[in-house]
Formats: sequence, structure tokens, C-alpha cells
Amino acid sequence: MKQKILVTGGAGYIGSHTVVELQQSGFEVIIVDNLSNSQKSVINSIEKITGIKPGFEELDLCDSVKLESFLKKHPDIKGIIHFAAYKAVGESVNNPLKYYRNNLVSLINLLEIAKKEEIDVNFVFSSSCTVYGEPDKLPVDENAPVKKAMSPYGNTKQIAEEILYDTVQSERNLKVIALRYFNPIGAHESGLIGELPIGPPDNLVPFITQTAAGIRSQLSVFGNDYNTLDGTCIRDYIYVVDLAKAHVIALKRLLDNRNITPYEVFNLGTGTGNTVLEVIKSFEQVTGNKLNYTITKRRAGDIEKVWADTQRANDILGWTAEKDLLPKKI
Ligand code: NAD
Ligand code: WQD
Repeated sequence: MKQKILVTGGAGYIGSHTVVELQQSGFEVIIVDNLSNSQKSVINSIEKITGIKPGFEELDLCDSVKLESFLKKHPDIKGIIHFAAYKAVGESVNNPLKYYRNNLVSLINLLEIAKKEEIDVNFVFSSSCTVYGEPDKLPVDENAPVKKAMSPYGNTKQIAEEILYDTVQSERNLKVIALRYFNPIGAHESGLIGELPIGPPDNLVPFITQTAAGIRSQLSVFGNDYNTLDGTCIRDYIYVVDLAKAHVIALKRLLDNRNITPYEVFNLGTGTGNTVLEVIKSFEQVTGNKLNYTITKRRAGDIEKVWADTQRANDILGWTAEKDLLPKKI
């Protein structure tokens, strides 16, 4: 009998890659997504890759009535991987309430209704390295202080982690692993799923690929006067399929009761930082395409450098990123 896993936001970028890995690991998946930042065709693409069509329910997690009737129909859910959230940092600054409502009400609804329906919840949560802000020490580990969030979006991740931490203290049917992603990039090797943001991308790599494809005329590199090797910011770019695999490992850890405490946190990165120019050079080297880019002024709110200490994920979770960028250094 396959174990049934609810994947919220499973039509989105990281969610869709995780659904593929879950199905290939023998889980039955049901996706809940309101398609606010994704397309329904992703479900067919997942089926093309795995040969299995995941369950799909178009539903807004903020709608507690519909969510309750959905969960009533699926009392056999054994685990929840919660990706659904808005993630555009700039938009969250201009419309904070939209972000607080969507990202926090959806989480609270899920926890409350699962409790009401007496579902034992093994819960994997999408958190972010954004909780560290500009770290004092690099690489940054999970014990680093959570800094004041640079945006309402970042704050929703911090508050969500606190909500989950507080809730596991009182709910014995709830176990949580919060995964702090660094910068997810790339696409499934089939080319059938990938990062398909609606509208112009905020993130570097989709902007690079859309520039190369001629959808955008030019890439702006936001500042080259940072205190780094080539003056551009440093991030830890993690391949999305490696990230997806970490979710399956985290879920199994909870399902098998191998977690040490009911609330655990892990960094998911490669442990290596790369500058923006290194990412561009890597793209050019691998694809053989010259990229049209220009240096512009710094983007407000950008962190200068951050990369992950991955020791806890390596040693305790038992996960290590397999891929990194080429070339390693320019
Ligand atoms: P995404 O936008 O591609 O996927 C999120 C999905 O959730 C979308 O399909 C969207 O339609 C859905 N959704 C949003 N609100 C919903 C709601 N109320 N009800 C139902 N569905 C809803 O984003 P992603 O890059 O795949 O990110 C997944 C998660 O990982 C998010 O929580 C994000 O904050 C987090 N995260 C992303 C990154 C990144 O750089 N991509 C980094 C760290 C953390
Ligand atoms: C990476 C680097 C930019 C676009 C964001 C969120 C963070 C997390 C991951 C979810 C930076 C530079 C970018 C462009 C550029 N998401 N850049 N030109 O800023 O590390 O993090 O996504 O939790 O919360 O803030 O990612 O991909 O936007 O930028 O030069 O057109 O690329 O300045 O140095 P970031 P990013």
C-alpha cells in the first residue's frame, strides 16, 4: 500500500520536482494548488516523467471551508509537504498584507484542520536562508541568529517557523522538519518541468535563461562594488532536483520516527558560494551562448554574501547536494 502524501503548491517550481521524486520513491501524491503562480499543465508533465498522474485539487488553502472538506475526503494522508506560498520579495514590500494573509493563513488553516480531522501530521516546511539576513559568520549554520527580516516575505518564513515550533510543543500528533533552502536553480533533466514564473522573473537564473532565449533583452547585474572576489554578490545555488530529493529524505525521517526532536531545522545548500558573474560565466560555458548583460546599481535589500554550512544536513539528515556550478572559480 503506497503512503499518501499531500503536497501543497505541488504545481509550482520546487513542488513539481518534489512530486516527481516522491512518486519515483513509491509514494502516492495528491497536490493542492490554487495555480496563482503555476499552470495546470505541470500535472501532465509530471505524469509524462513518472508515468503516474498525481492527484490534483485546485484549491486555495486560505479557504478553510474547502480545505476542511478536502481533508475529510483524505483521512489517510500520512504526510504534508507545504510549499504553497507567495515568494516575490519586492511585491511583499509593496503589499505586505497579501503576503501575511496568504503565507500564514494557509499554514494555520492546514494545522488547525489537520488537528480537527485527527490526522497525524508529518510536516515538511519550505523555509528559507532569508531568515539569516546578512550572517555574521560564514558559512551560516542552523544555530545562527535569526535576524530581523529584510522583507514581509522573509518575515512570513520567520513567523511560520515560530508558529510550527510553538505548535509542536502542544500537539503530540505533529512533527515538523523546516528546510531552509538557499538559492534553488535549474530544471528537471527531461526539460518538461522547470521554473516557470508568471511575469518577469525576480530571480537570477530564470532571468538569465529568459535573456538567453530572447524573452528579455538584457540581464542587469545588480552592483559590482561588493566586498567579494569580483564585486558581485555571493549566493549558494542549489540544484532543484537535489533539493527535491532532500524533501523525500526529510519526509521518510518523520514517517520512520527517526527525528531526534519533534521540530528540526536543516540548511539545504551546496556549502559553496558563487558570485553573480560566476553564475553567468558558468551558464555561458555550459551552453556556449554569450549572455547580454550589463552592470547596474545595487538592488535594495540585497545581502552581500551568504552560503550554507551543510554539516547538519549531511550528517544528521543524511543528504548531500550532488551537483554544483561549473566552473567552481573564475
Ligand atoms: P512557486 O511559486 O513556483 O510555487 C508555489 C506554489 O504555491 C504555486 O504553484 C502557487 O500557485 C501555490 N500557492 C500559493 N499560494 C497558495 C494558496 N493560498 N493555496 C494553494 N496554492 C497556493 O514557488 P517555489 O519557488 O516552488 O517555492 C516553493 C516554496 O519554497 C515557497 O514556500 C517559497 O517561499 C519557498 N522558497 C522558495 C525559494 C526560491 O528561491 N524559489 C527559496 C526559499 C524558499
Ligand atoms: C541572486 C543574486 C542579485 C536578478 C531571493 C529571496 C530569498 C530566497 C531566494 C525565497 C543577487 C542578483 C538577481 C537579476 C542580478 N527566496 N541578481 N540580476 O536575492 O538571493 O534571494 O530568492 O525564500 O528570500 O530574497 O535571489 O535570484 O533574486 O538573486 O544581478 O536580474 O543575483 O542581486 O545577488 P536572492 P535572486
